Amino acid sequence: MSEIARRGEFPDTRGWIRALPASSAPAPRFEPAPSPQETFVGWLTQAAEAGIAEPHAATLSTVDPAGMPDARTLLIKDVTDEGWWFSGDDRSPKGRQLAATPAAALTVYWRELGRQVRVRGPVLVGGPEVRARDFRERSVFARAVASTGRQSDVLADPGEYERLLRERLTALEADPALVPEHWTAWCVAAETVEFWQSDPGRRHLRYRYRRSGDRWLTDELHP
Ligand SMILES: Cc1cc2nc3c(=O)[nH]c(=O)nc-3n(C[C@H](O)[C@H](O)[C@H](O)COP(=O)(O)O)c2cc1C
Repeated sequence: MSEIARRGEFPDTRGWIRALPASSAPAPRFEPAPSPQETFVGWLTQAAEAGIAEPHAATLSTVDPAGMPDARTLLIKDVTDEGWWFSGDDRSPKGRQLAATPAAALTVYWRELGRQVRVRGPVLVGGPEVRARDFRERSVFARAVASTGRQSDVLADPGEYERLLRERLTALEADPALVPEHWTAWCVAAETVEFWQSDPGRRHLRYRYRRSGDRWLTDELHP
């Protein structure tokens, strides 16, 4: 803590931010596996084993119909041959953006390991079994919250929201198999996946997979 620049010691925000240390995580060399999924699951395993909190959290970037980018954090739910899965309500801003422009980027940063992964590609919608399984794996309270269905709308009446939440809880307790029609599982069907490993000397290692038919090609990139 003592090595961290203290805000009060700097005359302006810029000077203080510039003095904050960048990562000096070690950069063990790594051999990319034949597929980006295998490399990703390997890195995720190492992040989980290193005790990193929410190692499966990612930034999902989308664009709105005006071409304005948007981004938010969410949890990756699965990694399969098809791609990287996440879930949510299709009436949310992200859901509407994905309906209009079914393409996205997922970015994961494990700062303790000096590692970043960037996944880009078209977005597919999972079938009924996938979304039902995803929904039912949530706690009953998380299912109730998810089925109130107005994510990111202005909360004009908190009392009304609490009533709706209790109503959804009662309905879900009565019928645990219930899956709201708007709950959606999406999959980023990656076209490119980049693995970035930091180096204290700035000679960062970067490998990018590119899909070529049913094969993956890899390139090493300039740092
Ligand atoms: C760690 C973390 C995990 C989250 N997981 C999810 C998730 O799995 N699905 C989801 O819809 N929102 C998740 N959220 C909330 C989103 O960041 C966001 O607030 C919400 O999806 C509304 O985004 P939108 O208005 O762009 O649709 C998570 C937030 C955090 C910080």
